[in-house]
Amino acid sequence: MSKAAITGIHGYVPDYILTNAELERMVDTNDEWITSRTGIKERHILKGEGMGSSHMGAKAVAGLLEKLAIKPEEVDLLICATTTPDYLFPCTANLICDMVGIRNVGSFDIQAACSGFLYALTVGSQFIESGKYKKVIVVGADKMSAITDYTDRTTCVLFGDGAGAVMLEPNTDGFGILDTIIKSDGTGQNHLFQKAGGSRYPPTHETVEKRWHYVYQDGPSVFKFAVKNMADVSAEIMERNHLSGSDVAWLVPHQANKRIIDATAHRMGIQSDKVMLNIHKYGNTTAATIPLCLFDYESQLNKGDNLVLAAFGGGFTWGAAYVKWAY
Ligand code: ACO
Repeated sequence: MSKAAITGIHGYVPDYILTNAELERMVDTNDEWITSRTGIKERHILKGEGMGSSHMGAKAVAGLLEKLAIKPEEVDLLICATTTPDYLFPCTANLICDMVGIRNVGSFDIQAACSGFLYALTVGSQFIESGKYKKVIVVGADKMSAITDYTDRTTCVLFGDGAGAVMLEPNTDGFGILDTIIKSDGTGQNHLFQKAGGSRYPPTHETVEKRWHYVYQDGPSVFKFAVKNMADVSAEIMERNHLSGSDVAWLVPHQANKRIIDATAHRMGIQSDKVMLNIHKYGNTTAATIPLCLFDYESQLNKGDNLVLAAFGGGFTWGAAYVKWAY
């Protein structure tokens, strides 16, 4: 049976770097608190009038196509995971296709907060496994700075902007995305959300004054749920694929907090040198963290490496994927 293999990866972060030192001048925080509580040192921010998540997604996709020498007209489908779409409609995937010259194929967004890339990878891989498509692009792109309240020290230190894209193609030699698990629990909705801007609370002067267009997070509640569920789902995917910690070459965790990552790795029996980590450079880029990790570590990956991808985010949503690296 054909599996969907990741055959290429590319990432993009904007130039502007927001350091902990600059945040110290904006809110009552300090480098020591941010570093010890989250592991974050700096994050990249997209500046410029009229620039949205599609700008970064298109940069990642254009780089991917160039790297793989694949023409836009060869692509069968593009899926974009984002929580910060340029518009409510049209979707960001449509905009990215337009920017890179992919025409007349399906494209749509998936919104599952920080688990978005894992959800999109799960959906994209089905089109390859079924034999319907041969080249599917999955992009994770988020401009979290657009919904971050830079007067709220409890959230503004956490997020950054970025994008990453992978190409999925059929593989019949046992490589690729071998298993996925996606889960959700809507009872978590009030712990992590953007209250206004959708159909329940459309924008009004009042919603703006109440700062309801920014990320709200009850950090400690989310932290507890994230530690338990990211570890549980990673253990579940390892067990059902008969993997022990020593079989796993790399854990590729969503980058929300280094302490959550450490707890997940510990539970899985994976040593810290086998855990992909770039939170110090980018912060939490939501749907972009996992592809940005793969992009940063690409040169260290070997064909046949067992990877466990794991994510957790608003909703709540969470999930894991077992990937045998294909190149
Ligand atoms: N600088 C200094 N002090 C701060 C800051 C800051 N930036 N932020 C909070 N504090 C203070 C708090 O006010 C509190 O002070 P108090 O005790 O006087 O009230 C103290 O530090 C401790 O605050 P906590 O919120 O309990 O700190 P915690 O250790 O829980 O860390 C954090 C907060 C980093 C947000 C953590 O809870 C976390 O990572 N949560 C999970 C994040 C996550 O996984 N999100 C999911 C993905 S995001 C998505 O889907 C969009």
